Amino acid sequence: MPLEIRSLSDALGAEVIGLDVSHPFDDKIFATIHQAHLENLVLVFRGQNLTPQQQIEFSKRFGPLDAHPSQGNAHLEGYPDILVISTKTKDGKDVGIRNAGPMWHSDLAYRERPALGSMLYALELPDRRGNTGFANMYKAYEALPAHLKTAVEGKRAAFHSTRSDIDALHPIIRTHPETGWKSIFVNPQLTTGIEDMSETETEALLTEIYAHCDQPQFHYWHEWQPGDLAFWDNRCVLHIADHTRLDDPSYIRHMHRTTIAGDVPY
Ligand code: SIN
Repeated sequence: MPLEIRSLSDALGAEVIGLDVSHPFDDKIFATIHQAHLENLVLVFRGQNLTPQQQIEFSKRFGPLDAHPSQGNAHLEGYPDILVISTKTKDGKDVGIRNAGPMWHSDLAYRERPALGSMLYALELPDRRGNTGFANMYKAYEALPAHLKTAVEGKRAAFHSTRSDIDALHPIIRTHPETGWKSIFVNPQLTTGIEDMSETETEALLTEIYAHCDQPQFHYWHEWQPGDLAFWDNRCVLHIADHTRLDDPSYIRHMHRTTIAGDVPY
């Protein structure tokens, strides 16, 4: 089947049909999907049947992998590069992270070098819900009202991980190292403050920015199909998981995530 790339929404996202990522493929195909990823921000490789090692090998084509701080106790046994995101339990204990991404965020934003991208592979899916939302932060930046652009110009925000007690400061508006385009980098899950700004001022400014980013024209909600492998660009995309059925014992959602290491934002 020839490789086909089809847009999934006006905001962002494309599906890749006809590419089995479980086996090595040539540099020309890699260049095509790399370019499609830069243009569409999220790629969904349909119909995959991947072992953990095959997911790791494919992910590594985009760069070295990085471990989530929870990976120490939420990785797949024997595969420290795979983070398990799951509602399943074994012997009464969660087998992975149950509530990853309850708010809009960019992975590992609290690190000095936040993640370049993440790949999430759907192994078991519920009959309904459990979707993942993606937001295009280039478009959100382009449409940012002038007074907000002025307010954040040259400013840095603080990020914090409650899971690991890691902190970092990054520019609120970052430039993508490959496309050169600007995007909004703050997010409601991990941003804790703005440098040289009072708590009251920070809260007022971030509330306005988040309300702006939370508009449907910047969003795509992915309804997972079995065999989907989604790859998003954390440098210009926020994401969120729909956790509305998390407390329902019949709700089974089981995923494997790999995370690709990124650069210091500028
Ligand atoms: C994540 O935040 O990496 C997980 C998103 C999801 O489970 O849909």
